[in-house]
Amino acid sequence: MRHAMATADVGDDVFGDDPTVNQLESASAERLGKEAAVFVPSGTMANLLAVMTHTRAGDEVLLGDECHIFNYEVAGSARVAGVQVHALHNLTDGTIAAADIEGAIRAPNIHAPRNPLLCLENTHNRCGGAAVPVSAMDELTGVAHRHGLAVHLDGARVFNAQVALGEPAARIARDCDSVSFCLSKGLGCPVGSVLCGSLEFIGEARRNRKMLGGGMRQAGILAAAGLYALEHNVDRLAEDHAHAQRLAEALAKTGAFVPIEPQSNIVVADVVRGDVDEWLRAFQDAGVLAVGFGPRRLRMVTHLDISSTSLDEAIARIDRVVGAVAA
Ligand SMILES: Cc1ncc(COP(=O)(O)O)c(C=O)c1O
Repeated sequence: MRHAMATADVGDDVFGDDPTVNQLESASAERLGKEAAVFVPSGTMANLLAVMTHTRAGDEVLLGDECHIFNYEVAGSARVAGVQVHALHNLTDGTIAAADIEGAIRAPNIHAPRNPLLCLENTHNRCGGAAVPVSAMDELTGVAHRHGLAVHLDGARVFNAQVALGEPAARIARDCDSVSFCLSKGLGCPVGSVLCGSLEFIGEARRNRKMLGGGMRQAGILAAAGLYALEHNVDRLAEDHAHAQRLAEALAKTGAFVPIEPQSNIVVADVVRGDVDEWLRAFQDAGVLAVGFGPRRLRMVTHLDISSTSLDEAIARIDRVVGAVAA
């Protein structure tokens, strides 16, 4: 990847002249089954651009109350896009009940905001990396489209969903009007996300990217990492998923944690003994990194820098930490 970055052909992407960025955008659009794509610095910017481009200020966006846009994007939808969000109850499988979506869509009325957009997430981070099956995607996009709403899929880890479900990312996102994915998570790039959609939508998103300060110049050195990742780092995600299974089993065995059965590379576990922050500190002191995911939950992820041997080592250290606390 570093070699591909160092030897990338570059140009000025603000003028659409960077050949490597152009190549990444076409490869991404093709993989997601969309007409066009735009390269952006982060998943947060990709989601914000999607919200801005699908809506007008004063609109209301429907989404799940456990989704990343609602919980971790600093309310950018409200502050920057000027929309109100209506957070619906997320089911533990990463979906939202179709009836809840239907019930939230407002009838046209001079008093009410318009509902032009539903946002979904797959895999679903706070639902323990749940891979939402295509049947559920089809049901939810169907409900939205029947009522005239566009659908944006936050597919930060849509290639993990592809591997977990055995369905191409393009099938998963087939009926979504836009989809974003991150190059900088399990795919192993230092920077970057891509937003995909129709030609017209991406043209407008490109204008909005410039407004947000996301227009980059010789960004081909970053896009080259993305192209490398799409070619080499997608199928190997299966290894991260197998590692997550092994990690979850090891956490369960300690008796201090009850993990959600992992479906991808994310392990979310309820803490049933002791205090989350104390466990996080003790794990960090032992060189095992995790984050808090609520007052009684923690999250660990597996990725391409965690080999089978380093996973064995991490599990041994977790066992030592839990053993020392129990002693
Ligand atoms: C589901 C999801 N969407 C979007 C993002 C945002 O990505 P970034 O950190 O690149 O802004 C994340 C990051 O963890 C995520 O998990």
